[in-house]
Amino acid sequence: MSHYSSLVFVLLCFCNLYSLEALNGGFSVEMIHRDSPKSPFYNSTETQFQRISNALSRSIIRVNHFNKSFVSANTPQAPVTSAQGEYLMSYSVGTPPLQVYGFVDTGSEITWLQCQPCQTCFKQTSPIFDPSKSKTYKTIGCTTDTCRSVLGSSCPSRTSNCKYTIRYGDGSYSQGDLSFETLTLASTNGSPVKIPGFAIGCGHRNYLYFKRGGSSIVGLGRAQVSFVNQLGPSIGGKFSYCLVPIRSPPSISSKLNFGNAAVVSGRGTVSTPLYSLFGEPFYYLNLEAISVGSTRIEVGSYTPRPGGKGNIIIDSGNTLTFLPLDVYSKLESIVANDVKMTPAKDPSQLLSLCYKVFDRPYVPVITAHFTGADVILYDSNTFLEVADRVVCLAFLPTHSRAVFGNLAQQNMLVGYDLQKNTVSFKLADCTKQ
Ligand SMILES: *[C@@H]1O[C@H](CO)[C@@H](O)[C@H](O)[C@H]1NC(C)=O
Ligand SMILES: *[C@@H]1O[C@H](CO)[C@@H](O)[C@H](O)[C@H]1NC(C)=O
Repeated sequence: MSHYSSLVFVLLCFCNLYSLEALNGGFSVEMIHRDSPKSPFYNSTETQFQRISNALSRSIIRVNHFNKSFVSANTPQAPVTSAQGEYLMSYSVGTPPLQVYGFVDTGSEITWLQCQPCQTCFKQTSPIFDPSKSKTYKTIGCTTDTCRSVLGSSCPSRTSNCKYTIRYGDGSYSQGDLSFETLTLASTNGSPVKIPGFAIGCGHRNYLYFKRGGSSIVGLGRAQVSFVNQLGPSIGGKFSYCLVPIRSPPSISSKLNFGNAAVVSGRGTVSTPLYSLFGEPFYYLNLEAISVGSTRIEVGSYTPRPGGKGNIIIDSGNTLTFLPLDVYSKLESIVANDVKMTPAKDPSQLLSLCYKVFDRPYVPVITAHFTGADVILYDSNTFLEVADRVVCLAFLPTHSRAVFGNLAQQNMLVGYDLQKNTVSFKLADCTKQ
């Protein structure tokens, strides 16, 4: 009896699986905020304002590590930021499939998960993947291009299999076997998408700075083995997301789109060149100026590295936007001049320009002038309610890399085209996408 039911189950499963080609090269998955009730990180006893304060702390930790990790070129260390981010994606790994939650991280080049046997593993809410129980798991040989293309890969001997080490600026790391495995993604139109032979890190020694819940990192950064590249030519190097506003009902999730589903076009679309710095997985844009109402602040000739193009990292894993110190100070003083509300204090003392709100707040429109693309930021993109009736400017200064964070990107379609090297923005109601 049990044999029959499992056979029926297997048949049903395969009938409903779609290859990328069958989906006409495009599909979408849910992008779950880590504080959503759908997330393994959800803590029902936290208040909305505790969650916001924690997100701000994570954002500050993350930006501080954008500059620590660029050590010497010959250490087996991928130049990445703090592990994790603010959004998770659910996917299944292996045959039979095991569901895991991974942080969607545009600062990570490989996708990895915790694997049995664990030498060191952090606690995760779901069972840890056991590759010996999967029919589709295969380690990768040392002499393969896949092994060579991964920064931080190593080979104890020519006949051994390919090992990887990924270290993050905050001390998080994962170490294990680089492997091929089948991934299954739950697309939002109901049909699972199956990706065989996906190169993934099977981590036997793992440590995460923020210890709880998640079990994997989905590497959306720039790299040969990045998630987007591995989805194959039918995706055409395109992905996009639409982040729902922070106070949306918990049943509504943001979306991460791939391939044809990720094309951002039509009226109101603006595009700007995408840059990368050699050896870094980050996506850089060039921010020429920022304006408050009609007052323009030039960003100047600031560059993160000599010869580098682009001066700001676009990052969905950071809540706040971080600007070079002089640009931030001008922004803060112009906004302070413009806003006629009662000043207040951020109870967690993380943000510096705060106001009491009794009515709909008046705050000026802030425009981010990227090369060729003016992106208009409304009050919900620039101010955050950190306590009851207290809103704060969600920007901070940094000595490290400048970052265009996720609050600034909410209610917009943000499309990356890694073939044309552009990022496009279009105003959208992400709760209806
Ligand atoms: C959940 O949040 C409460 C309140 O902040 C905190 O005391 C508790 O440690 C959190 N639970 C976990 C599992 O982190
Ligand atoms: C990195 O941060 C430190 C301060 O934490 C700063 O002094 C230094 O200039 C920064 N380096 C780069 C390359 O941004």
